[in-house]
Amino acid sequence: MKPSDIPDQPERRDFLTKTAAVAIGAITALVPAAVGLVTVFDPLRRRSAASGPVLVTTLNALPNDGKPRRFQIIADREDAWNKFPQVPVGAVYLRRVDENRVEALNVTCPHAGCPVEFKPDTQSFLCPCHDSKFKLDGTLADPESPSPRGLDTLTVEIRNGAEVWVTFQNFEAGKARKVPLA
Ligand code: FES
Repeated sequence: MKPSDIPDQPERRDFLTKTAAVAIGAITALVPAAVGLVTVFDPLRRRSAASGPVLVTTLNALPNDGKPRRFQIIADREDAWNKFPQVPVGAVYLRRVDENRVEALNVTCPHAGCPVEFKPDTQSFLCPCHDSKFKLDGTLADPESPSPRGLDTLTVEIRNGAEVWVTFQNFEAGKARKVPLA
């Protein structure tokens, strides 16, 4: 008698039927789950948009002594899933360099994102995390600093004679050139 002549055993048929059912069931469950995961995590691929110009302070609050002052930036923030109106989104150092000219630096260290500190004794900025050093204008003060670039400069406008508006923007850390976070 040849093997093909042997009739299918009921147990074997039952096993094949169950295996097929499990496989179809798994595919049926996985496809919607995968679609769901893509939907849930898709917003993470979209980063919050840069703010427009934000009123930060007035010239009166910036004595013309060349010292930087730290200000928090309050603006609307949008993350992957939510919108938050008027919350802290970052901070800047503002330095009045002329009667009507102000320079702005993002406080975030371009190495790995720690906030830098102004050191009055050396008139420079120091990052407490890995000791990157920056001059008053934000450029690197020490070539040994691990930061790949100087502090990120931001656009400042003086409006209505005294209002200091800053276009706040974050940039990618760890890169030698400024790459805005969209
Ligand atoms: S985060 Fe500033 S030096 Fe590393």
